[in-house]
Amino acid sequence: TTPKPLIAGNWKMNGVTSGLTALRTIAEGVSQHTDTFDGLICLPATMIERGTRLCNGTALLLGGQDCHFEQSGAHTGDISADMLQDAGASYVILGHSERRADHDETNTDVLKKSLAAYETGLTAIICVGETRAEREEGRAMEIVSNQLEGSMSKDANSQNTVIAYEPVWAIGTGLVPSNHDIEAMHGHIRQVLSERFGVEGESMRILYGGSLKPSNAEEILRTKNVNGGLIGGASLKSEDFLAICAAVP
Ligand code: G3H
Repeated sequence: TTPKPLIAGNWKMNGVTSGLTALRTIAEGVSQHTDTFDGLICLPATMIERGTRLCNGTALLLGGQDCHFEQSGAHTGDISADMLQDAGASYVILGHSERRADHDETNTDVLKKSLAAYETGLTAIICVGETRAEREEGRAMEIVSNQLEGSMSKDANSQNTVIAYEPVWAIGTGLVPSNHDIEAMHGHIRQVLSERFGVEGESMRILYGGSLKPSNAEEILRTKNVNGGLIGGASLKSEDFLAICAAVP
């Protein structure tokens, strides 16, 4: 069965009180299409609780962008899955390439964080993707297989886990892989998931992320095994995010 698409925004380190207007507009827009897709915005942690109150009664889901692998304790500056859930989040992005690069997060770290997310009832969006050099060396699929193998626990299933394929070189650059390459990679990820998780792997959502915008959304979202998108820059503007939502087949 084809999973219901998930259109997810990642606000990254953007968003203060003034951003709440855009969030409310997104929440209202998303609520008109609950039959075709699920809408999610992963906010900076400081905004989740206010976002939760503001979006109360709408269909918009909220998420965090990272969590610690423990639920509490002496970890200054860190935020746990329990805390995100308490603030109103139901999803958490894990292993985004910016976390892997800026904070040296390894596949093992991501796996441990996913267990904390599952424990608390959050759905983990586990990010994978190759660098430009790795693609040029013809190693993109091998890199992504290794990331999936190392970052996913045996407890992952189609309800608690979403995979986001984000080629690092496509993030925030305006560059996107050809449709042929997206289809090939998503097919590859599907195969890896099916082999490891059986039926659950067949219905796990695989999102595409990296310079997804209104002008390319229709083509990308129609691609086989693309079950939605993870949108950075274009999720900050309500009209762009909603235009991408309108392109869901
Ligand atoms: O999580 C989102 C991705 O990193 C994509 O970012 O849409 O700004 O390229 P972008």
